[in-house]
Amino acid sequence: MPRINPSILAADFVNMQSELDRIATADLVHVDVMDNHFVPNLTFGPQMVGRIQDVARIPLDVHLMIDDPDRWAPGYAELGAYSVTFHAEAAHDPVALARRLRELGARAGIALKPGTPVEACLELLPEFDQVLVMTVEPGFGGQSFMTETMPKLRTLREAVDAAGLDVWLQVDGGITEQTIVTAAEAGADTFVAGSSVFRAADPAAQIALLRETAAK
Ligand code: DX5
Ligand code: ZN
Repeated sequence: MPRINPSILAADFVNMQSELDRIATADLVHVDVMDNHFVPNLTFGPQMVGRIQDVARIPLDVHLMIDDPDRWAPGYAELGAYSVTFHAEAAHDPVALARRLRELGARAGIALKPGTPVEACLELLPEFDQVLVMTVEPGFGGQSFMTETMPKLRTLREAVDAAGLDVWLQVDGGITEQTIVTAAEAGADTFVAGSSVFRAADPAAQIALLRETAAK
């Protein structure tokens, strides 16, 4: 079954606990950490993510849009995040960092901005549990899905299957019940959705709709 990970970037930050309860039927909760350096936006850091980890009923999928993840990423694994994804463009030593995250018991993920070629991670696939293909420029929710990123996903799907690896392929940005079809067809199995879930009158129904649509 495809995994649906709602992004709390689109949630009401002041009422985070009840917002988390609205998406409790999802697979994981996607947590966007931004530092206003790697991306031109700022969200929250380890203290807030630690509290989200305490109150969330589903595991955390942390997406670090920050400089120097080599320094910061292990802390998110230590506080119990299920997966920690850092950007290929930001990491100094991605392999050492992935190994450290796995050692700490987290799934290790590597993310690619839309303009970053897939070659940045192809050789490293055995070191990772998931690859996140950004389908918008990172930094903000509510942007339009970039279809031009789909060839990267196809290349990754072929590489993962050819090597017999169990690496999840995640898309993030502009995922709706329309664009999820394109991403699933290109090989994605894990779908991050912010606006389309949190702006829905019934987030649980929207999660179910996205899951069913991706599975077709
Ligand atoms: C963007 C974030 C996404 C964002 C997606 O930088 O990484 O996770 O929340 O939001 P939507 O689904 O609204 O495009
Ligand atoms: Zn994200």
